[in-house]
Amino acid sequence: MTERVIVNDVGPRDGLQNQARMLEPGQRVQLIEALLAAGLPAIEVGSFVSPKAVPAMAGAAEVVAGLPAGKANYSALIPNRKGYDLATSAGVSTVELVVASTETMNQKNINTGTEQALANAADIVNAASKDGVTTLACVATAWECPFEGKVDEAVVLEMAGQMFSYGADEVVLADTIGAADPAAVRSLTQRAADEFGAARISCHFHDTRGMGVANVAAALDSGIRKFDASIGGLGGCPFAPGATGNVATEDVVLMLTQMGFETGVDLRKLVDAVDLAIELTGNCDGGNSINWLRRQIEKGAL
Ligand code: COA
Ligand code: ZN
Repeated sequence: MTERVIVNDVGPRDGLQNQARMLEPGQRVQLIEALLAAGLPAIEVGSFVSPKAVPAMAGAAEVVAGLPAGKANYSALIPNRKGYDLATSAGVSTVELVVASTETMNQKNINTGTEQALANAADIVNAASKDGVTTLACVATAWECPFEGKVDEAVVLEMAGQMFSYGADEVVLADTIGAADPAAVRSLTQRAADEFGAARISCHFHDTRGMGVANVAAALDSGIRKFDASIGGLGGCPFAPGATGNVATEDVVLMLTQMGFETGVDLRKLVDAVDLAIELTGNCDGGNSINWLRRQIEKGAL
């Protein structure tokens, strides 16, 4: 039996939140539909954040209202309790809350210190448990912070442990600025898998230094079987200087497929979704594998 790996496309959120060209909710739904057509099993559809902080994510409730029912596991990012209330009122049943590993990153990203951010996380997870809402707890800047530098593994593991102690369903270890390398990824993910179980951990990588897929491979070695990626490699956090796009969904799916993992994703239709991302944003070249993928399609080999 082939082993399954879940790819969660965060393009409609991480990919679009920092684009110069802001997309209407209807265009964001169009991109999500292309991802569904390609067979993505999980999609982060937007974020319920302050529209002053992230104007591109305004209208998230309209995006949620436009989603085809039951086609994938949809999630939305929330920075605080208000975001939780708005997301769940809109009908979201999986929320991703974010706490960064460092004080400065929390201040820059959510205008709150770490202690308060963790208290807010506890409150949100508690409400979610009662509401039957699934919680993904993201530890941002899990390897390196753009302001405070390299992050101690013990700090990240402690934070992950706190999230689980509140009742979070999953912890997402996020390399927000794409500074991690495979050795560092193997080390942290192995410790996290040993402590919490690999099935409760997922990883989120950016491709700033070209190590995105290498980092996915390293985490696979630790038993991690769920990864965030963004269609066309779109992405970047507006509050983390130097962060470029996420590891591209097509690169991750191609690597996983070639390694014999099952993803449920159709690479040919995924290229159609990349084309749409290029058309909609006008600011996307596609992942590192896109030219090779296009040649296979031309040759009829895909
Ligand atoms: N969704 C929509 N509006 C929100 C909100 C949310 N989740 N949280 C707060 N607001 C609104 C408030 O109602 C208030 O509106 P008003 O000015 O019309 O009265 C305004 O935003 C300020 O509220 P406040 O609680 O003082 O927030 P803040 O200014 O300290 O900002 C955050 C804190 C968390 C809302 C903001 O920093 C944010 O949205 N960050 C998101 C960052 C992000 O998405 N990063 C990338 C992904 S990790
Ligand atoms: Zn990210």
